[in-house]
Amino acid sequence: MAPVTNARVLFNAIPKGTGFCVITHTLLTSAGRLDFPVPGETTVYDTKQKIDLAGVPLNGGFLIMTLPPFTLGEPIVGFGIGVVMRSDKPEVAAGKYVYGTIPHQQYSIIPDMKDLILIEKDPKLPWTVFVGAAGMPGKTAFMGWKEFSHAKKGETAFITAGAGPVGSMVIQLAKRSGLKVIASAGSDEKINFIKEIGADVVFNYKTMDTREVLEREGPIDIYWDNVGGDTLDAALEHANVYGRFIECGMISGYNTGQQGIKLKSVQNLNQTFSKSLTIYGLLVFRLQSKYDEEFYKVIPPALAAGELKYKEDVSTGLERVGDVILGVQKGENKGKTVVVVAEESV
Ligand SMILES: NC(=O)c1ccc[n+]([C@@H]2O[C@H](COP(=O)([O-])OP(=O)(O)OC[C@H]3O[C@@H](n4cnc5c(N)ncnc54)[C@H](OP(=O)(O)O)[C@@H]3O)[C@@H](O)[C@H]2O)c1
Repeated sequence: MAPVTNARVLFNAIPKGTGFCVITHTLLTSAGRLDFPVPGETTVYDTKQKIDLAGVPLNGGFLIMTLPPFTLGEPIVGFGIGVVMRSDKPEVAAGKYVYGTIPHQQYSIIPDMKDLILIEKDPKLPWTVFVGAAGMPGKTAFMGWKEFSHAKKGETAFITAGAGPVGSMVIQLAKRSGLKVIASAGSDEKINFIKEIGADVVFNYKTMDTREVLEREGPIDIYWDNVGGDTLDAALEHANVYGRFIECGMISGYNTGQQGIKLKSVQNLNQTFSKSLTIYGLLVFRLQSKYDEEFYKVIPPALAAGELKYKEDVSTGLERVGDVILGVQKGENKGKTVVVVAEESV
């Protein structure tokens, strides 16, 4: 068989700014100031590499073709699903599906299962769902909620970035736990969606004052933080005694370098002792071994039955990756952002 093109998205340059640079689980960040990525400059779609699918040595690993989805966030690798085409490993036979961190390219030789798990498709759900509500973001919500919320019926939760794959799942889990849910998002369309999935109090944080809403509807027992910055400060101000803060993400600082100790906008940390608050740092990878089995037993069937809702924003073609990453960072995505790389029949 003649070699075929192996299209890739390369991380070509750090978005402008200074300071050392780290790659987090989600986005490129830096100790200095960073600008937004520039598709075609910071990330480049490349079609120069060729691969001989029948003959390329596997060296004890296996060859996968990347299937529909790539969940976005990371420049070089992201969460994706692959179908095994050839394999030197009997336990990862051709035709099986793997999910986990996969390079942004059409075909990859993977040495081992260290960053992957085998998954089965639910015939009622498209593959795209398995990188969203039934994938890493859904796991983040499910596992973080189980481990850290200590939710009690009648309590109040506040959830930011409520229309995204993490936030929308948390809203539904909080409602299932019998809580009053306050949720925010950045557009009217997103607000309608979070109302539809059950949030009791919804608001557009761009047009309404978060502190005013929390003053009226709080105090809050659980704050699920996806954004950090001044919103975290407002949540500290309006927390109830013994409140729990689940620190899941700080997207408001991803492109400004205002993460971690540089979060100058957080002034209310004294509330942690005066209200006996507990702050949990959530990283989904640390909870997977504990909850993966339960997650796959509970969540995909509930999604397939329509008991849990999800929203996706699907783009087609690996060459779209750069634009799509930028869209997420600017809040332009309308749901879980997924890039379809190839259909299964290809
Ligand atoms: N800890 C973990 O293990 C883990 C795992 C996965 C994800 N995460 C984090 O969870 C959060 C949500 O992830 P996701 O995949 O569900 O994201 P997402 O909702 O698909 O996309 C991010 C959303 O954040 C909002 N946003 C962007 N800039 C903002 C700003 N300056 N202030 C407030 N909101 C802003 C935008 O929505 P609006 O239009 O509503 O502003 C944007 O659509 C992110 O912070 C992510 O890094 C953490």
